[in-house]
Amino acid sequence: MICVTVRAGLVGVGPVGDRIVSCVRERNFPLSEPLRVMATSARTEMLGGEQIQVQETRAELFEGLDVVFFAGREGAKGASVQWAQTAIECGAYCIDNGSDFRLDPTVPLVVPEINMDAVTEDTRLIASPNCSTIQLVVALAPLHRAAGIKRVVISSYQSVSGWGQAAVEEMERQLSEWDKSLRGEPIDFDPGVFARPIILDCLPHIERFLADGYTKEEMKMVHETRKILGEPDMPITATAVRVPIPLGHSESVNLEFEQPITREEAIQILAQAPGVVVMDGPTEDPAAVESRNDPQELRYPTAADIYEDQYKDMVLVGRIRQDNTIRNGLNLWIVADNLRKGAATNVVQIAEGMLERGIIG
Ligand SMILES: NC(=O)c1ccc[n+]([C@@H]2O[C@H](COP(=O)([O-])OP(=O)(O)OC[C@H]3O[C@@H](n4cnc5c(N)ncnc54)[C@H](OP(=O)(O)O)[C@@H]3O)[C@@H](O)[C@H]2O)c1
Repeated sequence: MICVTVRAGLVGVGPVGDRIVSCVRERNFPLSEPLRVMATSARTEMLGGEQIQVQETRAELFEGLDVVFFAGREGAKGASVQWAQTAIECGAYCIDNGSDFRLDPTVPLVVPEINMDAVTEDTRLIASPNCSTIQLVVALAPLHRAAGIKRVVISSYQSVSGWGQAAVEEMERQLSEWDKSLRGEPIDFDPGVFARPIILDCLPHIERFLADGYTKEEMKMVHETRKILGEPDMPITATAVRVPIPLGHSESVNLEFEQPITREEAIQILAQAPGVVVMDGPTEDPAAVESRNDPQELRYPTAADIYEDQYKDMVLVGRIRQDNTIRNGLNLWIVADNLRKGAATNVVQIAEGMLERGIIG
């Protein structure tokens, strides 16, 4: 048996960086030396449940690394724009959680269950999709292969952790004064995080608005899904909604297909699809009949399920049903942990795929 090991770095120690530290450890990613962890400043941070020394990012820290996970912020001052080229020049492969390079035609946008083959030895920079896109395509790709998707309509219900640590803290602060709303008093909020108070409300506003009235988050789902499925013209429309829950994104998805596909066929396909757990069929909850008088009640996933170890790296699909208003239509409800499969797990799985292919290690 050949035992390969890897020298890896991490830039960014927000919620995504924290989960990358956990994933690397839990999945026994074969490190030859401790993960080299960097951010904008040096300090000690609790990451993945461990006290870890964080170093201020600088060029020499990339020397000798095989792979670098980027979990920093986007834009000109963001981590991957500032540091990915330096890491590549030092010989590392870079896997980026951010959006800066996702639509660059020279950069593969990868979800390992679907298109790991897009990564070759020559690929020095690999992008990981937006959290809401990852869970969507993991469920859509096998259905697309089976019956050809003709049109997609998505409404997402996205947790505050999707907007980083500052948003989690903003919701926590607002929750401490939720009783103000009972007295009809306004809840204080930081307009730099969300445009309105996030608690006790749903905001159809994730990232900035574009000239056509869609938001950037909505168009990420459209463009990234097309790129990953290799369908540049697939009709896709999205409404992205921020909801006051800490973790886990849910999506209501309406699909129209070229070929007929029944609910039962879709369940069978999804049950065999990598990375998917189907949560559908009769519920085993006795209260369905005893308390809710609903003998036909079905089971379905919610964001609460992703706290279970067996589901935190999976895409959970339920409410699978025929859309009888169109010829070949289905509705789905898709849930995943936006910080694990929606970010950290996906990048660590990409690195594992590169290891299996002998690209690193
Ligand atoms: N949250 C999600 O659900 C999710 C899902 C998929 C993808 N993503 C993407 O993953 C990335 C990280 O998300 P997050 O929620 O963890 O963000 P976050 O809470 O804002 O944390 C960002 C981290 O990056 C560091 N950083 C920022 N700019 C840097 C630079 N120029 N050089 C070095 N370090 C830098 C920050 O350092 P300091 O701590 O020193 O300020 C911080 O530790 C983002 O690109 C985000 O869009 C997030």
